Amino acid sequence: MTNTELGIERWQHSIMNNYGTPAIVLERGQGARVWDVDGREYVDFLAGIAVNILGHAHPAIIEAVTKQLSTLGHVSNFAAHKPGLELAERLLALVGQPGKVFFCNSGAEVNETAIKIARLTGKTHIASLEHSFHGRTMGALSVTGQPKKYEPFRPLLPGITFSEPNDIEGLRTSITPETSAFWIEPIQGEGGVLPMTCEFMQASREICTDNNALFVVDEVQTGIARTGKWFAYQHSNVEPDILLLAKGLGGGVPIGACIALGEHADLLGQGTHGSTFGGNPMSSAAALAVLRIVEEDNLMDRALEIEKALRSGLENAPGVVDVRGAGAMIGLKLAGDYSVAVERRARELGVIINAPNPEIIRLVPPLVLTDEDLRVGIDRLVQALGDCAQS
Ligand SMILES: Cc1ncc(COP(=O)(O)O)c(C=O)c1O
Repeated sequence: MTNTELGIERWQHSIMNNYGTPAIVLERGQGARVWDVDGREYVDFLAGIAVNILGHAHPAIIEAVTKQLSTLGHVSNFAAHKPGLELAERLLALVGQPGKVFFCNSGAEVNETAIKIARLTGKTHIASLEHSFHGRTMGALSVTGQPKKYEPFRPLLPGITFSEPNDIEGLRTSITPETSAFWIEPIQGEGGVLPMTCEFMQASREICTDNNALFVVDEVQTGIARTGKWFAYQHSNVEPDILLLAKGLGGGVPIGACIALGEHADLLGQGTHGSTFGGNPMSSAAALAVLRIVEEDNLMDRALEIEKALRSGLENAPGVVDVRGAGAMIGLKLAGDYSVAVERRARELGVIINAPNPEIIRLVPPLVLTDEDLRVGIDRLVQALGDCAQS
């Protein structure tokens, strides 16, 4: 029995099965490479699902967290602290509008926060999109457009309507003057790396304004330079009322930020919400390090170079009928529903990818990927695609 097999057996014995059986037991990582407990090396094209923007074991995150932990790691939310303050100011400067930030720990929590803000407008209806994903907690699940994820958990929040992504007329029916807020991912990640068109982003913004509904942009997956801009909505020349960030923000240290802009910044008043760990000094310090390195190392441009390399290396690969997405968030549409087989074969060949649905492969690598990582990862993936397309 290998260490991997043994590890998986023990894992299954004591960890709940909600993620199914893990395929791999990872031990360490460096940059865009990870190694399993049997010493096998993999190029990581998944980055903890769009989290490890700076790859694994980045010295800036290690230094920031170590320094902060040895100074002041955690305080109650009765106290202010410098890292949290600096992070909020930095995020607002990146958005370029006055607003206020609520810090928590995850993507689901930033969505929960925005749902509470939406309720505080006095209206209860919410509009969202089919195939969208906003998290697994009950509120976030209620605005998620994937029946197989929410059906077992009914009753959900009432008053939520769904329309198809990129269907402007459908959205005009879904959003009414009763609608408190509309939820959108600029590129649906879990739904299969499906980009919203620029026209749809702009029309949704306008329809929200016309109906006095909050335009809530969930950038948990697309945010923090992944698509070649700090935030993916910036490709469409629209402004959110609420911006949701998590995943890449902490580069692997859990932190989420719900940013409410303009007149909406003060809706969440005293006593209305809270989070014990949210944005504590340690996680804020990690996020500040991520933002600094993204800027210093010009990782937004790197995301665009990664897109170019992935597109040119994979658009003619066996069985690939479409390459979509932006920057370092790329989806490969396959000729059939065998993406899980490709994911498995790719892992055997030494590259980690994922299959958000049966016809789609998702690539969300670290932005610190080197040219060599790209070359090796693409070679291995092309071989996996060939092996599965033929069989
Ligand atoms: C767009 C989006 N929103 C929310 C979430 C939920 O994030 P978390 O798993 O951190 O709760 C995800 C996770 O994949 C996501 O992609």
